[in-house]
Amino acid sequence: MTNSAFKPVRKAVFPVAGLGTRFLPATKAIPKEMLTVGEQPLIQHAVEEARNAGIEEFIFVSSPSKEALRMHFRKNDELESSLEKKGKPDLLKKLQASNIADGKLHVTYQEKPLGLGHAVWCAKEFVGREPFAVILPDDVVNHPRGCIAQMMDVYNRHGGNLVATKEVPLEDTAKYGILSVGTDDGKTVSIKGLVEKPKPESAPSRLCVVGRYILQPEVFDYLDAFETGAGGEIQLTDSMAKLIGKQPFHGVRFEGGHYDCGSRLGFIEANVAYGLSDPSIADDVRKILDNYR
Ligand code: G1P
Repeated sequence: MTNSAFKPVRKAVFPVAGLGTRFLPATKAIPKEMLTVGEQPLIQHAVEEARNAGIEEFIFVSSPSKEALRMHFRKNDELESSLEKKGKPDLLKKLQASNIADGKLHVTYQEKPLGLGHAVWCAKEFVGREPFAVILPDDVVNHPRGCIAQMMDVYNRHGGNLVATKEVPLEDTAKYGILSVGTDDGKTVSIKGLVEKPKPESAPSRLCVVGRYILQPEVFDYLDAFETGAGGEIQLTDSMAKLIGKQPFHGVRFEGGHYDCGSRLGFIEANVAYGLSDPSIADDVRKILDNYR
């Protein structure tokens, strides 16, 4: 619970309809969000991060072929009672951590891959007219509280809209949404503009949007227009940009390692980082890595 003057953020949207072609053949029969980093699939990292931040309802914008995502969060009575009988409370606890209570997980489908803005728009009916979070499971943040919880702290001060941000090399600006920055206290920046995937020569800064958002429902009023932007896709960035000047809009430099698990290298790095941050195996992981120097 919070004493914030702003409407609480209770719902989170997880755009998970993508086909994950970059990870074929691993993702031929399982969703890419079921690939594991550390002990958990990507989607569970995202859901747990949301839960740590007080999110109560989870909205997956998925595709019919990705039923495994819903299944992963369903209570598995058979497995639970078998672990109980075998006297394995630790495993049982881990298993139960992946349960989402009935009625708290909503799954809707994005019929066509029209872009991130369209994916978020697909969640409109489930979100209703209240602020909500968006979490892209490809972006993994390794931090005890998570990234969205850190953003909630800032939300409770400023309200409005927020994105997670970090600095990227200039040559990488065309991979991300990029911020145009007003004030900057080293942690929180006020956002004057947002542009999707600018070339380095036209990038307004090196601060990029990492896949964590807290948004006001008015963003749907702009997404409704189905306007296409960079890459011919309906971009979330473009509709967010239209809120600037009308509502507060901030970027949050978050703490914790960030890994782009949509790329093979990012995925490998994330697994190494999680191995090294798990005290039960960290020393052994370090020894193994030494063998490859
Ligand atoms: C999306 C957003 C982009 C953001 C990025 C973060 O791009 O459109 O603004 O910086 O996620 O991961 P995508 O990675 O889907 O191309």
